[in-house]
Amino acid sequence: MRIDRCVCHNVSFEDLRRHATACGDASFRELQKKFGCGTTCGLCAPYVKQMLRTGQTVFTQIVTARDEAQRS
Ligand code: FES
Repeated sequence: MRIDRCVCHNVSFEDLRRHATACGDASFRELQKKFGCGTTCGLCAPYVKQMLRTGQTVFTQIVTARDEAQRS
């Protein structure tokens, strides 16, 4: 399974990463505000957080809020 976007708002993690980089490392909250990611079902939130931390934009494993909470 390829996981590469917030499906609720149809925005790819790559587009989010590009925006975050262009804005000088935008925060998760800033991406939420601009793109809506993580504001509907919330399932993309841990992926977006991991993307901000690692730069990874395509995932093949399930990432949960618990996985990212342990790193915050
Ligand atoms: S997948 Fe991003 S809010 Fe639902």
